[in-house]
Amino acid sequence: MAEDGYDGYAYAYPHKTAYRPLDPPIPLNEAWQFEDKRDLFLYVHLPFCEMRCGFCNLFTTVQPGASLVEQTLGAIYRQSESVVAAVEPQGIAQAAFGGGTPSYLSETELQCLFTTLSGMWPVCWRDIPVSFEVSPGTVTREKLALLKGLGVDRISLGVQSFVPADLVSLKRPQPAAELERACQTIKTAGFAVFNIDLIYGNEGQDASRWQSSLDRALEWQPEELYLYPLYVGKLTNLDRSGKRPAERRRDLYRLGRDFLLAAGYRQISMRLFRRADVIRTTDYCCQEDGMIGLGPGARSYTRSLHYSSEYAVGQPGVRSIIENFNKRELASYACADYGVPLDDAEQKLRYIIKSLLRADGASYQSYWRRFGSSMIDDVPQLNELFELGLATDSEDCLRLNEEGLAWSDTIGPWLYSDTMTARMSEYEFV
Ligand SMILES: C[S@@+](CC[C@H](N)C(=O)[O-])C[C@H]1O[C@@H](n2cnc3c(N)ncnc32)[C@H](O)[C@@H]1O
Ligand code: SF4
Repeated sequence: MAEDGYDGYAYAYPHKTAYRPLDPPIPLNEAWQFEDKRDLFLYVHLPFCEMRCGFCNLFTTVQPGASLVEQTLGAIYRQSESVVAAVEPQGIAQAAFGGGTPSYLSETELQCLFTTLSGMWPVCWRDIPVSFEVSPGTVTREKLALLKGLGVDRISLGVQSFVPADLVSLKRPQPAAELERACQTIKTAGFAVFNIDLIYGNEGQDASRWQSSLDRALEWQPEELYLYPLYVGKLTNLDRSGKRPAERRRDLYRLGRDFLLAAGYRQISMRLFRRADVIRTTDYCCQEDGMIGLGPGARSYTRSLHYSSEYAVGQPGVRSIIENFNKRELASYACADYGVPLDDAEQKLRYIIKSLLRADGASYQSYWRRFGSSMIDDVPQLNELFELGLATDSEDCLRLNEEGLAWSDTIGPWLYSDTMTARMSEYEFV
């Protein structure tokens, strides 16, 4: 365990570093044949950014140039055609465009992307929740109007900090005026949900600097806020320059949580806070089983198989994966060749990790309905949460208490199986 208990963000279990080549590749029609295809989650990954931020280990490439973008979009359309034919989807219940920075695309490219996908998939963007990630430097009034017209209802803006000194420390080049203009433009465009991402725990950030960022964020009255503790991953620019997160991330977490609760936000998970008057029923959880990812770097999940294209952090590795993705034969997109199978025990762990780390907890009944067994009998280790005073038990639910939620990044990795922990630690970063 890390000294301060920040062992890892369990937003996906198993992490991509547990994926390996699947030999032989698994045809998607087989992988999806017994899945419920009525309420799928469509995720589109655009691996392009204007800049590589010092903290970021997401799968993305910087300043790709027009021809690489064009080739990648072409490949996404071919992949899409091939996946639709193999999976035979019956309905899309929600969609998200992430990255990278999807707003790196031009208006013409965005229009074409939405139109092409809705021509292939059983989806009407306006009828479902559609989330779209943007960075301040790529936001324009025209782009937002287009996205809104196409049916996007949630804009998520990467801010990280409103304090210039934090942005220097995070190695995120982002002029204050640009940030201000982006917030104003999003607010004026009027999406149902405006989400702001903030990071805490960078070198030099004390409580007053964190407070000042939170204050500035609330001036925009965002419907949602994600408060991310800083992680310094392998091969990131912060890692290469020997930087580490501040020691007192949990104090900053408590400050942020208390402040948002007092300001009328509800806590959904350790990271996510939602304004109390906002109702949204689309939180990522176990609905993610049934996720179709398009684009290089996108993950797809059936109950028993998680797969994607390969993963890299360093720029040469990312570029070569994108180029290989773009060159694939049409038929090869209809096979999963890199991923991880989930047996019954892994599916149970995934279910528990994903639901326990939410404020509303893991429902005993839902677990029983899904697996036909008792959650506590299957994973007796969960009893330790009561002994440690981190969870409360009710008739229907195992729920982390305030202190338990604060230790989410210890509890998640503590529940990982030995097999997945070994696979993740054996992974060689490129
Ligand atoms: C895809 S980005 C958001 C959109 C856009 N690319 C941007 O940066 O403005 C996802 C979010 O993950 C968070 N994030 C990424 N890497 C992180 C790290 N190492 N530690 C903490 N938060 C991180 C950041 O808050 C970031 O806004
Ligand atoms: S934080 Fe966002 S803009 Fe920065 S490198 Fe990562 S994905 Fe790109």
